[in-house]
Amino acid sequence: MADLLRYDIRDGVAVITIDNPPVNALSPTVWEGLDRLVARAVADPAAEAIVVIGAGTTFIAGADIKVFETLKTREDSLARSANTHALLKRIEDATKPLVAAIHGNALGGGLEVAQACHFRVATKDAKIGQPEVLLGIIPGAGGTQRLPRLCGAELALTMCTDGKPIAAAKAMNAGIIDQIIDGDLLTGAIKYAKARARNGDLRKTREMPHGVDQISAGLNACSATRESLKKTAKGMRAPYAAVDAIEAGLRMDFDAGAIREREIFADCVVSTESKALRHLFFAEREVAKVPDIPKDTPTRDIKRAAVVGAGTMGGGIAMSYANAGIPVLLKDVDDAALQRGLATIRKNYEVTMSKGKMTAEQLEKTMALITPTTSYDGFMDVDIVVEAVFENMDLKKATFAELAKVTRPDCVLASNSSTLDIDAFAQASGRPSQVVGHHFFSPANVMKLLEIVRGRETSKEVIATSLKLAKKLGKVGVVVGNCFGFVANRMLAYYMREAYLLLEEGASVEQIDRVLTTFGLPVGPYGMQDIAGIDVGARIRQYLKSIGKTRAEGPQSAIPDRLFEMGRYGQKTGAGWYKYDAPGSRNRTPDPLIEQMADEEAKKRGITRRPISDEEIIARITTALANEGARVLEEGYATRAGDIDVVYAYGFGFPRHRGGPMFYADTVGLPTVLARVKEYRARFGDYWEPAPLLERLVAEGRGFYSEATQPV
Ligand code: 3HC
Repeated sequence: MADLLRYDIRDGVAVITIDNPPVNALSPTVWEGLDRLVARAVADPAAEAIVVIGAGTTFIAGADIKVFETLKTREDSLARSANTHALLKRIEDATKPLVAAIHGNALGGGLEVAQACHFRVATKDAKIGQPEVLLGIIPGAGGTQRLPRLCGAELALTMCTDGKPIAAAKAMNAGIIDQIIDGDLLTGAIKYAKARARNGDLRKTREMPHGVDQISAGLNACSATRESLKKTAKGMRAPYAAVDAIEAGLRMDFDAGAIREREIFADCVVSTESKALRHLFFAEREVAKVPDIPKDTPTRDIKRAAVVGAGTMGGGIAMSYANAGIPVLLKDVDDAALQRGLATIRKNYEVTMSKGKMTAEQLEKTMALITPTTSYDGFMDVDIVVEAVFENMDLKKATFAELAKVTRPDCVLASNSSTLDIDAFAQASGRPSQVVGHHFFSPANVMKLLEIVRGRETSKEVIATSLKLAKKLGKVGVVVGNCFGFVANRMLAYYMREAYLLLEEGASVEQIDRVLTTFGLPVGPYGMQDIAGIDVGARIRQYLKSIGKTRAEGPQSAIPDRLFEMGRYGQKTGAGWYKYDAPGSRNRTPDPLIEQMADEEAKKRGITRRPISDEEIIARITTALANEGARVLEEGYATRAGDIDVVYAYGFGFPRHRGGPMFYADTVGLPTVLARVKEYRARFGDYWEPAPLLERLVAEGRGFYSEATQPV
């Protein structure tokens, strides 16, 4: 405790400083220390008031998430949270004004500690939030009961169901923060606390009553929130649980509401949903740790960038740099292509502005960071070039050879290729240690995943630089090996194979898309292809055919290529897997033509089409992903199973509450997954071959993560 909390008297005020780097998480020792030091301050004649503050860059970012792993049963959770609730009540009962001084973040349990203080002051850049829902739980230290008493149920519902933090100014307007402190926070907080002591102010949040009007408005807001969650929280339990707990607080007194909160929290914390989300929280942070790249590997600062190719991907990549404040040259071969690219970029920013997420001034400032060019002038000054020309090996090789001549020898040369061999570009450049894959996902300015593809000779410095850069660009960088399709597209090929085959066997495009969106994906495979463009995949298949490769083992459906030949590229042409009202429209209707094509292809393959259950669709598709994921892992193209889960969650929107394809396989149980692979092999053919790692794990009684093959 001595190390994690400090106690000082400053100007007649007891200052309790929590010093548990990096984020002052509430470990059991911190909870206990806080309890003890508040009691000490109450008894200390030298203190007329008490300030709680965080050391370092933040107040308290929440309960220590690792502790949740120790809560094996509902009863474990109930016992622990009863203690926490009692502790916060003791703090709240302090007989001297207790002030939380907030800078950085007051999140989750951190905000709940602040709510149990009598007053809250904050710096103007502080952020406060109840992000528990993002971990599949609800605020469990009284937040669902105290927060609505401070700011009303409506805002509390939003904060507890979307998990997004709000700015100090908004929190002040809403009544959560009592004063914004300009200048030194501690000095301001002490001054504030002394003033409260002079007035004898002690305001206990739990004793603040809900007015009758507030209760009825709050109950209406609960119903409205449940309704809107039907769209935003498909398949999730925690957001609804947060509404239930807040509603209980409106209907009952504080103590009864708090008991209900503890029960609901206990149900959530042992749920698979929460385990999956906690897994992703840590997996996401783990990806930045590459075993042979130590933390102190030198990195270079990326101050200027260039992107070659002003198409959809190149434009999106340039936007990512500009959004991060990095000036970027955008090069294309001719002026017309450049102007088209720039117009699309501007249009995208205008959409952002129309949503109120950007001002006209910010738009112009960001656009000014993108300099169009048809020459290599200025390339000697950039620290990185991202190549985003057509997916054509010869063109890319020629581009890399040229780039090596027009850039400094220490410039990073990155390729946005989604499938091609990075080592071939590395050789073409003549400086392979500087070459790396930076595979962005479409739309590149939006999607958070960046696959960092490590070539045979890519230097450690370039990998470390790429990881740091990813963070600066607001992306999650995952280092993957240079196999065909890398991790994301290699696995996607198996996902798509099953989607195509299920269609030929008897499922419909609408059924498959519906089942997968109900499972939690933002869009099903067919809807996704219509957005991405059927032509994109078809061109890649043409190239692969020319080099004698296919994307995934097993039968290849002819339907996507037939659609391509018909000019049905998806939304942009007004028809693809669905029919659209007009080119560019998103309003779609099923097209009987697809059923007809599926019948024809099924006949050609000698298949009798049959009704296919929703369960079979999920089982086939997720089993294909897990089996191929096991191969990727065993072959060393991903460092950890968690890296694959992060790739899938951020690259393709695999539902976070299912933890990613590998975690999901553990929740199904690997023996079941393996049994399915074997069943499919017997039913469909040898292309369903169990991955050796999957067989080994089952034989050893383990999962991808768990030591036991019991479903997680
Ligand atoms: N518990 C345990 N570890 C935590 C943590 C927490 N609440 N919050 C962050 N960490 C760890 C991270 O795992 C990471 O560890 P590593 O360096 O070993 O990888 C380290 O702290 C730094 O975190 P980030 O890399 O995320 O740092 P950033 O500066 O990018 O972000 C942050 C800081 C915004 C605070 C972010 O870490 C965050 O969002 N943390 C989680 C906040 C949260 O969810 N709080 C609620 C917890 S649940 C709760 O409080 C329940 C309560 O109601 C009872």
